[in-house]
Parts: sequence; structure tokens; C-alpha cells
Amino acid sequence: MVGGLRVAVIGATGVVGGAMVRILEERGFPIASLRLFATARSAGRTVMFCGKAVLVEETGDGVLESDLVLFAGGDDASRRLAWAVAEAGGVAVDNSSTWRMDPRVPLVVPEVNAAALHGHQGVIANPNCVAAALVMALKPIHDAAGIRRCIVATYQSVSGGGADNMRALLEQSRTLLEASDALETGDADRITAAAGTPSPVAFNVRPQWRWEPDGETEEENKIVAETRKILATNIPVSVTAMRVPVMVGHTLVVYLDLDRPLGPDAARAALQGARGVEVLDDPSADLVPTPLLAAGRDPVYVGRFRADRFDPRGLSLVVCSDNLRKGAALNAVQIAEYLLSAGMLRGRGETA
Ligand SMILES: NC(=O)c1ccc[n+]([C@@H]2O[C@H](COP(=O)([O-])OP(=O)(O)OC[C@H]3O[C@@H](n4cnc5c(N)ncnc54)[C@H](OP(=O)(O)O)[C@@H]3O)[C@@H](O)[C@H]2O)c1
Repeated sequence: MVGGLRVAVIGATGVVGGAMVRILEERGFPIASLRLFATARSAGRTVMFCGKAVLVEETGDGVLESDLVLFAGGDDASRRLAWAVAEAGGVAVDNSSTWRMDPRVPLVVPEVNAAALHGHQGVIANPNCVAAALVMALKPIHDAAGIRRCIVATYQSVSGGGADNMRALLEQSRTLLEASDALETGDADRITAAAGTPSPVAFNVRPQWRWEPDGETEEENKIVAETRKILATNIPVSVTAMRVPVMVGHTLVVYLDLDRPLGPDAARAALQGARGVEVLDDPSADLVPTPLLAAGRDPVYVGRFRADRFDPRGLSLVVCSDNLRKGAALNAVQIAEYLLSAGMLRGRGETA
């Protein structure tokens, strides 16, 4: 590739789009030109890339002039423009949930199912931030011992809901600290009055997604469906998703029912060599996965491997990863890197 690609990021003023711009720079992605898009609200702002201020444009047909478009502008932008990018000869890597379950669209975590990219039709989906971390931990264990059933509880940070949610956590925290005596005594009425809601995200643990008629949340259903699509399996997956007052980094507590017993040592060994995974499992040194440790870092951290004392086929583990990086922006850039290395992404007019 001479000169690099024309790259666009939609949603460049958001938390995922901002991380994409930083990661493109960090990894030296070959870029001939970078265009940044958001809504009319942010048009005219600038975002730094490689020491230069890049102007943010309003999202529109200008997007179609790029070879690679990384979408982090939400469902509406992805619905309107992802296939238009493909029709114009570019490749769209989409972070929204719009196209993830579409049979035409590969849903990819490169370390797990890069092969699904071959034969893509120009639109590629990046998974939900929990599903991305989960499959990174499950795949090596599935290969080693076969997973019969997977039960997950999540402790998801507020950045998973975007920049507004991060601001809300900080504002609610400040407000509630003003009523710290009510927090200390557990005075629910005063906490509600101070927060202006009975279920603030600050000092709380709660679901924070649209409810489905079956009592699941939309997030839980996404994690189940996407995990099964990426792993190409029908294994039962059950998820309970919770929002916790953490800024960045999702935590997953996973219980697996396996085909064949796999003790903690063997499970650790299976994950130790896995690309993109770091085993962190030394309770004696207090070294276990936490969201604060994962935030700002690329690996998916896995630890707390424990046998089920009542069932030799049972295994528990804890997974933490940065939802903005491996859960979104990093994974999208890795998809683009794979496409590039496999000759499936090139500048317009270039030949193989
Ligand atoms: N946060 C995560 O951990 C995570 C993980 C995986 C996937 N995702 C997905 O990534 C996308 C971005 O999420 P985020 O967390 O970065 O949200 P965010 O912080 O709220 O940022 C949203 C960005 O999208 C832009 N935008 C909003 N509506 C748009 C439209 N109609 N056309 C073009 N741009 C538009 C916003 O521009 P303005 O500044 O002009 O408002 C902003 O730049 C979402 O689809 C989300 O589901 C997020």
C-alpha cells in the first residue's frame, strides 16, 4: 500500500470515536487522509490526530468518499450510511448494533473469528462491548474442554452508555456526596430526593437498558445472540447485565458448565497463550482483574479461575476489559488491520 487509505470516523466527538482516532494514531494505521464526522452540533470543532487539529464535519455524503469508514455515531448514522459506503466501494466497520445479527454481515473479534471476514460484502459489525470480551475468554476454553452452558453476570461501566452517562455519574456523585450522611445511614428517601431519581447510577447497581417483553434487557439479549454468532455455536448462554458506578471497564463474572472437566490450572494454561488475553490470577499479591486496571489498556484480563466444588465440569472465572478499546474502538481498528493484511481493503483505484 503506497500512501495509505482515506479513512473516516463517524462519531469522532464521542467516547468510542475519540478512542478510534487515538488508536489509529497509536498503531500507525496507514492513513492518507482522515476525515472526522459527527452531528451538526459538533461540526466545526477539532480533534487532534498526529499533532494536527482535524476539523469535525457534519455527517453526510462526504463519508462516501472514504476507503474505510469506522462508524461510532449510533444506530441512525449506521442505518443510513453503512451500506451506502459499501455500495460506493468502501468498507464500513460498524460499532452500532444495527447490522450485527444481519446474516450478510460478519460479526468479528479478529482473535476469535477473523475467518468470517473473508467474502465480506462491505459492511462488518463490531460486537457489543461485553460480547467482545466474553468470546476472547471463552474461545480457548471452548477449544480445550467444550462449553455446554455459559452463565454470566456483568458489572458494566457507565462509559458503555456514552459520554452523557459518564457526565451523569460524575454529577450524581457530586450531588450525593453533599448528602453523605444520607448515604452513610442508608436513607433511601433522602437519597432519592437528593439524586432526583430513585435509581441513580451513582452509589448504586442497576440494569440500565430497555426492557424486553420477556423480562430480559435489550443488552442481555444482545450479549446472548452475539456471543453465539461469533463462536458459531448454539450453546445456551444466560446473562444478567448490571450498570455499576465505574467510569471505564466492564467486569464479567462467568460460570461455565464444560463437556470435560478442566481445572483452574489447565484453564489458566489454555488462556495464557491466547492472543489479546492476559491472565491475572495471583490473589496472594491481590492481582486479579479489575476495571480500573483494564481501563486504558488493550488486553482482556482473565483471572479468579475456580473449580466448582460440587461439580468437576464447573469452572468460574472473572474477565475485565476496557469497553472503549477491546470492546469497541481497538477491535474495529484490528478488523481494519486484518482486512488490510489480507488484501481485502485497499484504496480506490488500487489493484491487488
Ligand atoms: N461506549 C461503549 O463502550 C460502546 C461499546 C461498543 C459499541 N458502542 C457503540 O458505539 C457508538 C458510539 O457510542 P459512544 O459510547 O461513543 O457514544 P457517545 O459518547 O454518546 O458519542 C456519540 C457520537 O456519535 C455522534 N452522533 C450521534 N448521532 C449521530 C448521527 N445521527 N450521525 C452522526 N453522528 C452522530 C455524536 O456526535 P455529537 O458530538 O455531534 O453529538 C458523538 O460523536 C454507539 O453506536 C454505541 O452503541 C459503544
